[in-house]
Amino acid sequence: MSEPINVVVTGAAGQIAYSLLYQLAAGSVFGPNQPINLRLLDIPVMMTVLDGVIMELEDLALPLLREITPTADPNVAFKNVAAAFLVGSMPRKEGMERKDLLAANAEIFKVQGKALDQHARKDVKVLVVGNPANTNAWICSHHAPSIPKENFTAMTRLDQNRAQAALAARLNVSVDKVKNVIIWGNHSSTQYPDAAHATVNVQGSTKPVPSVVNDDNWLNITFVEKIQKRGTAVISARKMSSAMSAAKAAGDHMRDWWIGTKPGEWVSMGVLSDGSYGIPRDIVFSFPVAIENGQYKIVQGLQINDFARSKLSITSKELEEERTEANNVLQNK
Ligand code: NAI
Repeated sequence: MSEPINVVVTGAAGQIAYSLLYQLAAGSVFGPNQPINLRLLDIPVMMTVLDGVIMELEDLALPLLREITPTADPNVAFKNVAAAFLVGSMPRKEGMERKDLLAANAEIFKVQGKALDQHARKDVKVLVVGNPANTNAWICSHHAPSIPKENFTAMTRLDQNRAQAALAARLNVSVDKVKNVIIWGNHSSTQYPDAAHATVNVQGSTKPVPSVVNDDNWLNITFVEKIQKRGTAVISARKMSSAMSAAKAAGDHMRDWWIGTKPGEWVSMGVLSDGSYGIPRDIVFSFPVAIENGQYKIVQGLQINDFARSKLSITSKELEEERTEANNVLQNK
């Protein structure tokens, strides 16, 4: 059994955290031999709700879960953390534009970036879930100059899981038979869910998804729109945003980053662009990545056709606009 690691979850009294915390305590993210101390950050008014969450965590009676620290102080929450799930954010309210949401959240992620910079381990792995996730990750990393920029990632794993499940349903196979679907770009409706490089295992043989689906119209339009609009569909049915699936995706993202991906397989993560595939540098863009020894590398050499290129341009342009907006907000403070 290893020494316990400190793991922080922000927005710990919220609905995603409610599902995520169980996975962390059960060992499904950091493995069955890794005890954890949980730091639970939320805002002061949520501290009584957090008391209830803590009672439930205690009542799980799970041996990997050691200390639990509830707090509204980022300086306490981020102390010596090895992994950070930044889930808490200002929710989008009726009539609020993405821009307004960005302004409300820029300040939160600036404060948390500074707290990470001062208190976290320098090898901390940071996963931003709170929206707008890509740009929040960018803001956070800019306020934590002592931590490598590649340690800040944004979650597009829920979109990847949705895409994988949609392809499996279309092909009438179980979800584990579908691999290497990619989410490019922003975790927003401009994202590009790309099945061009995905494979499906049919009766023991691995085949390219496009040749098995054999319907470009479905792959380029129906499938893409379904994934882009899936979050909205869940909200309109549930009257609340995806939480169980978002928490599962956050666990998947961190587990793969911590433990690694299988040879020949990749997953999608929002990471700081290094200019791969002609994407502008210095935006947090979702790329396919392969992971070994806790380090991810953007998968290189995939063919990008004209259709894909036009989709990549739309989503990278949106991220550049968000970055400009974030800069404006932060400079005017
Ligand atoms: P929620 O509203 O249930 O919980 C959010 C929690 O964050 C609340 O307890 C709130 O008090 C807390 N919070 C607000 N400001 C905070 C601060 N400065 N520090 C610490 N905690 C703070 O929301 P839910 O459903 O858990 O979603 C959280 C975020 O995740 C939202 O921004 C949502 O849009 C985003 N999301 C992202 C997805 C992705 O795929 N990247 C998927 C689904 C949701």
